[in-house]
Amino acid sequence: MAATEAARRTTGGVVRRELMAAPAMIDLGGKVVPTWAYDGAVPGPQISLTAGDRLQVRLSNQLTAPTTVHWHGLALRNDMDGVPDLTMKPVAPGAGFDYDFIVPDPGTYWFHPHVGTQLDTGLQAALIVADPNEPGAYDEEVVLVLDDWTDGLGDSPTAILDRMRAQGMKMAAMGGMNMNAPPSPNEPLGMDTGDVKYPAHLINGKLPAAPATITSAPGKRIRFRLINAGSDTGYRFAIGGHRLTVTHTDGFGVQPVEVDTLVIGMGERYDVLVTAGDGAFPVVAVPEGKQDPAALAVLRTASGPTPRADLRPAELTRKILAYGDLTPTAAAALESRKPDRELKLDLQMADGGRRWLVNGATYGDHTPLDIKAGERVRLTMSNQSMMFHPMHLHGHTFALAAGPGAGIRKDTVNVLPVQTLTVDFRADNPGQWMTHCHNVYHGELGMMTVVSDVV
Ligand code: C2O
Ligand code: CU
Repeated sequence: MAATEAARRTTGGVVRRELMAAPAMIDLGGKVVPTWAYDGAVPGPQISLTAGDRLQVRLSNQLTAPTTVHWHGLALRNDMDGVPDLTMKPVAPGAGFDYDFIVPDPGTYWFHPHVGTQLDTGLQAALIVADPNEPGAYDEEVVLVLDDWTDGLGDSPTAILDRMRAQGMKMAAMGGMNMNAPPSPNEPLGMDTGDVKYPAHLINGKLPAAPATITSAPGKRIRFRLINAGSDTGYRFAIGGHRLTVTHTDGFGVQPVEVDTLVIGMGERYDVLVTAGDGAFPVVAVPEGKQDPAALAVLRTASGPTPRADLRPAELTRKILAYGDLTPTAAAALESRKPDRELKLDLQMADGGRRWLVNGATYGDHTPLDIKAGERVRLTMSNQSMMFHPMHLHGHTFALAAGPGAGIRKDTVNVLPVQTLTVDFRADNPGQWMTHCHNVYHGELGMMTVVSDVV
């Protein structure tokens, strides 16, 4: 690891922050709920810096449980990756930890704990890494954090997990629908998209009754950075009266593509450019395949009534983004090379959803997948279940290896029901790297393993 660290390019800049994880009363917009949060806010305070800067964060754990911070999507040094008992000891209640690492790549990232179901509390925030070479063809930048919310409104995340562990998936709730139908344009993630019914969905921590408002002016070019910080919900995102020009997936550039709507799995990010119209427009994130109420924000460039919370803009059913619409920019493309090593990740449900497996095992009983520094590694992910899994790899940004969207760079990819998807990456960041489903309940019920490059 020392050699890799010494070789990192840096700006010499240092960004220092204090971060307190603690219980907090949070106003979601008319409803005040007890939850856990960073610095008393949901989402927590955004961290912004430039690629090559060094980030130093002093975490103070004021929770009643151990915690860690994971810097989702960053190819950072392994001992700062925040995976308890794999890359660091969990930070005990009352204790602290100093995170200190170089942030290598520009893009839209975020951070959250990597302990239990803490992700499904308010502990999450955006991490935005500016690109010194960005042409910046936009006037404004807006970060939107999408989140499924239960804490203080419904069951606690730990109660939900306990129930799943005991009862598995409630097949009865599916009412005899054919959950085995394959994904289709209407159901891009398949029929069964999640296990949890949420009382609310939020954009930037606000309920639709008191939506977050983006104030701009007609004709302005706005770069939206979309982050799905949800635990069990894919979102279909659209802005009424606007088209979206997709420019980045998980922080890395793609050839710009115009769509009306896109589906974003848990842990995924998209950057989209929008030219603001004249008026007040609904910005919606509809829980994909769920009956839950949608999340709403408002884009406002003129006076006029606030869009109704139950409004479903027509864009939601127009041109929807598929991975196959995307190709990487030259700068983002991974050089083409034959894999030196091919590993498989078989994704399976067991015991009616009481356990979720990778290669037949739950995390803890897993066999780490060994790789060696310098190799080109191919992961073949076979979803042998009827639910989609947003599969995330720590410490690397892989490239889709074949099929629709081949070449695009991502760190989290939706593997659809009964689909097989292959991704390639460069083993250029030594350490023990988690790869797992970003449905936090699937992860906690076992769907996690480790890719191990220990020199
Ligand atoms: Cu955002 Cu291991 O996850
Ligand atoms: Cu999953």
